[in-house]
Amino acid sequence: MPFDSLSRVAKGQSGLWMRGTTGLRYGGDYNPEQWPLEVWVDDIALMKDAGINLVSLGIFSWVLLEPREGEYDFAWLDKLFDMLHAAGIDIDLATPTAAPPAWFWKKYPAARPVTRDGVRLAGGSRGLVSPSSPEYRRAAANITEQLARRYAGHPALVLWHVHNEYGAPISESYDDYSVAAFRLWLQKRYGTLPALNEAWGTPFWGQCYGEWDEIDAPRLSASVTNQTQRLDFKRFSSDALLECFINERDTIRRFTPEIPVTTNFMATNCLSVDYWKWSREVDIISNDHYLVAERADNHILLAMDADLTRSLAGGSPWILMEHSTGAVNWQPRNIAKRAGELARNSLSHLARGADGILFFQFRASRYGAEKFHSAMLPHAGAGTRAWREVVELGATLGCLEPIRTSRVHARVAILWDVESFWAQDLEWRPSVELDHRERIEAFYSVLWNRSVTIDFAHPAAELGGYDLVIAPSLYLLGPASAANLATYVNGGGTLLMSYFSGIVDEQDAVYPGAAPGALRDVLGLSIHEFLPLRDHESVSLSDGRFGTGWADDIQVSTAEVVARYVDGPAAGSPAITRNTLGSGSAWYVSTRLAGAGLEALLGEVLTSVGIESTSTPGIEVVTRTSDHGDFTFVINHTDIDADYTAFGIELTTGDTISGSVLVPAGLTRVVRGVPTEA
Ligand code: GAL
Repeated sequence: MPFDSLSRVAKGQSGLWMRGTTGLRYGGDYNPEQWPLEVWVDDIALMKDAGINLVSLGIFSWVLLEPREGEYDFAWLDKLFDMLHAAGIDIDLATPTAAPPAWFWKKYPAARPVTRDGVRLAGGSRGLVSPSSPEYRRAAANITEQLARRYAGHPALVLWHVHNEYGAPISESYDDYSVAAFRLWLQKRYGTLPALNEAWGTPFWGQCYGEWDEIDAPRLSASVTNQTQRLDFKRFSSDALLECFINERDTIRRFTPEIPVTTNFMATNCLSVDYWKWSREVDIISNDHYLVAERADNHILLAMDADLTRSLAGGSPWILMEHSTGAVNWQPRNIAKRAGELARNSLSHLARGADGILFFQFRASRYGAEKFHSAMLPHAGAGTRAWREVVELGATLGCLEPIRTSRVHARVAILWDVESFWAQDLEWRPSVELDHRERIEAFYSVLWNRSVTIDFAHPAAELGGYDLVIAPSLYLLGPASAANLATYVNGGGTLLMSYFSGIVDEQDAVYPGAAPGALRDVLGLSIHEFLPLRDHESVSLSDGRFGTGWADDIQVSTAEVVARYVDGPAAGSPAITRNTLGSGSAWYVSTRLAGAGLEALLGEVLTSVGIESTSTPGIEVVTRTSDHGDFTFVINHTDIDADYTAFGIELTTGDTISGSVLVPAGLTRVVRGVPTEA
């Protein structure tokens, strides 16, 4: 099956970890090239005070390392390596390929990326280069090789940080190299032009192709461009960036096979690359996460991001490569973190499987685009609350060393496939209210408030270990994934699916027959008509719940009706159903439930699979397990002290806990319980 998405299922990484690691990793991006030498000396002394043991170097330093093509200057980096090593601080060395030098742009203008509307972007910043430019790939491999050769034997080098945030701020380039590479990618995928014409449905609007070189990137056009072409260009662009990563990674591995290679992801926040596919290519998963500062529930979104990161890592430990100590500088209103928030954020990532916490960046910049971004060491220096909290966090991480390598186990999974985002977010869908991410966040938030731990999974992944699998508005679902869900339910699993799921295959073609074509038998129903609701319209259900945004006209075949529409365009039609299939069951929710309605439904579904949970808003509880004990994190995001039932030793205070641990407002307690029975 050529388009089987099983190839995008995380398989876990190589197992390589940073050598010499005894505790949790702590540190941040360090950009001392912006400062004179005496500042480096102060910085390193401060790093020691804070317990920092890992810094990322050289992320944007290409021109400093290669001031002219083929001429190198490593003296400053050599010195830094030696100074950090003498202080016992390890190095995560970056390849600087996200910021090509001015000489590169001057000499190779064809590598400049082109936007969908035809603008050729300039250098002078950072980010995307045409990923298919042979000049870029050659120059990137060259500087990577120079670094790998030079630092291969250095004892401070423990990790490679390739590039920076592939896919951000943009991931697609419409330049000539990319168009040529896209055609080759299509030839590989489809083999023949008739196969491509069929897959893209080109007879629609007369778009058939007679020659490969008639095919262009899906540039901005007068009306909607072929949607399968758009989808394929997104796939191609993710793959082209991945080739750039592999180009550098393989160069590195020739010189330092024992040093793990990572590249920093942005799990839920970069929807332009297919991380399931990428995660198989890195040795260690690392992630960057920044709060959406103005959202009151941003700690829940943080947890969601961390859970996806852990899932991309196949459950293995991962590291938080970047987050902020306080405000960022690129949101409309850059709200500073309040006292204690830095620690709560960090410990939430740890609770969800991270074995290292790093920040962007160690010392705040004086100039450049990020001079108003917070740092571990702010402009105001070491006499600040921010610095005190950084030092305190270092001490806390010291107390939490025993959690290293322990793992998080989840009984519930939410399906996550970036291709479904790509397809659903194209133009001319039945309603602007259809929002995959909104549904994922809605389901996730209810579960977070009930302290139910969640994994994310690709729809084609092995799901048998989960008691409950949730698919919130999963519009695109390939046949292999649909068959996988059927196997899961038949085998005793419980599937909870919301509206506008399983509508199209990987080509964005509607499945034949009534929706949801991929899952009619699994759900035991057919949808005769989509009935999008008006803005602000709500519909009532027979069980007292309300829905907004969407309704379906449903005919059940084998499903039982849990609730019907009482009013609105679907009055009389089933609204919530449950189908028994094999030894499992599949629920379908055809409208947008929110608040108490969604809360009650999830409570019911969780009870049906034997997961007892109660709602404790604002209190985050997650357990990491290992053969040397269980570690329960209780993070109090409220301003009221809370008690939590626990037995064991509290790791940050050393207190013995026999029955109840007090978690003061805004603080975290981590209780080491007794070893789990095998
Ligand atoms: C990240 C990026 C860092 C820094 C940071 C600021 O996306 O990797 O280099 O720019 O944002 O929040």
